[in-house]
Parts: sequence; C-alpha cells; structure tokens
Amino acid sequence: MATTYLKVMLFLSASLLLVVSCKHRIDGINDPGNSDPGNGGGGSAVPCDPNKIYFQQQVLPILVSNCALGGCHDDASHQDGIILTSYEKVMASGIVSPGNPGSSDLYEVIVDTDPGDRMPPPPRNPLTQSQTQIIRQWIQQGAPNLVCQSMCDSNSFTYSGAIRTLITNKCQGCHSGTAAQGGIDLSTYNGIKAKITDSRLWGSINHHAGFSPMPKNGAKLSDCEITQFKKWIEAGSPNN
Ligand code: HEC
Repeated sequence: MATTYLKVMLFLSASLLLVVSCKHRIDGINDPGNSDPGNGGGGSAVPCDPNKIYFQQQVLPILVSNCALGGCHDDASHQDGIILTSYEKVMASGIVSPGNPGSSDLYEVIVDTDPGDRMPPPPRNPLTQSQTQIIRQWIQQGAPNLVCQSMCDSNSFTYSGAIRTLITNKCQGCHSGTAAQGGIDLSTYNGIKAKITDSRLWGSINHHAGFSPMPKNGAKLSDCEITQFKKWIEAGSPNN
C-alpha cells in the first residue's frame, strides 16, 4: 500500500516537472479535442517508460497501416467481424486475450508461417520482427490502452530518425510493394521525395481540400510531426 502511494506521488511529481520543463515537447497534449496518438492525445502527459508498450503510439499505427485497409479490417469492410481502427474495436473483435499472446488470434495470425493463413495476406508483406514484438509485448503486458507523452521534437531531428520512422510506422503498410495503395510507394527515399515534389504528401497530411486525408483510417499527424515535415521540406528534403 505504502509503496503504491509512493509510486503515485513520484509519478505525479515527475509529470509535473516534465510539464514545467519541456513545454515544447508536449504541445497539444492538454487539448482535449486532440485525439492524436502521436501527440499523446487523451489529455495525459505521462512520460514514456521504455519498458512499457503504448497502444496509441506503438500498436494502433501498426494495425491501421497494415490491417485497416479497404476490403480488410477498416470500419466499412470489417472482414470476419474484425475492425482494427481503435482500441475499443480491436478489443471488441475478440482476438486479444490480455496477458496471453499464444491464445490471441491477433498474434497467432501475424506470426503464422503459412502464407495461406498469415496476416496481412500476400501480396502484402508480413509485419517486421520489431512490429510483431511490439504486439506480443503489448498483449503480454495485459493489452492496456496506454498513451504517453509525445517523443516528437520539431527542433532537432533528421530524415532517418524522424520522417523515415514515422512513414514506416504510419504509412508504409498501405504504401509499399505490389499492392501499394493509390499506386504510391513510400518505402524508399525516392518514393517519398516524389510525393513531396508533386505536393500531394503535404496536402494529404494537412487534410487540405482536394487531397485524400492521410493517414487513411488513422488519427491526423500531430502538430509537431507536421512541423517536422514542413521544416524538412523547406530544407530541401535532405536524405540525412
Ligand atoms: C490504411 C491505408 C493507408 C494508410 C495508413 C495511409 N494511406 Fe495514403 N493512401 C491510401 C489510399 C487507399 C490512397 C488512394 C486515395 C484514397 O483512396 O484515399 C492513398 C493516397 C495517398 C496519397 C495521394 C493523396 C492525393 O490526394 O493525391 C498520399 C500523398 C498518401 N496517401 C500519403 C500517405 C502518408 C504520408 C501516409 C502516412 C502518414 C499514408 N498515406 C497512410 C491508403 C493509406
């Protein structure tokens, strides 16, 4: 009991310190209208604990960009009654057994070695090892709906460290390989650069009129992430 109390107090003071000291890193977090996972939506400013898996930042983007495609597990298609666009819908699909990856269909299908049973099915690529690890650990940790303070830094970042990682996690499942959505392949620098040059990427992530809002079926990128794209484009999209 006493330890729990101590932990809560420690946690509260740590959060307070962070709120006071790193204002630029938590932009948007206290905006209740901002449900953007990249921004740590939900009004909480919990610092990210490297030992925990945060559903909103780490798991949901993988599911949205690899599984919630049209004809698959988006709201409209709901194949096999499974929708993978939000925490509530993932849990309601009955494919997660908290604490037990081995009896969770969600985990079983992504590591199935038989291409006939594997998800996402061919010609889509299987999830990467680090993506399947994230899902396994999340289930092992009890499959909670956690969100933490954004790690986004719009002042100091690189293409490889920030832009590339964001696209891998939030876009590439839909935009790669032979089944690339909209015929757009964002798995390489040149593929991304082409969509910067024709201005389609900037219009779509900002949800400008006349563009398809991206990431499709996912939350809009955070202000910090959009600022990173802005600065990167203005700097001539360096491959750094
Ligand atoms: C769930 C699948 C999915 C995800 C995730 C996704 N896209 Fe798309 N994207 C599509 C589809 C499908 C199209 C074709 C147009 C349409 O149907 O909306 C498209 C079109 C586009 C276009 C062309 C838009 C236009 O109006 O010309 C761009 C640029 C784009 N996506 C970039 C991105 C970026 C950047 C991300 C990640 C931040 C992303 N997409 C995430 C499915 C996805």
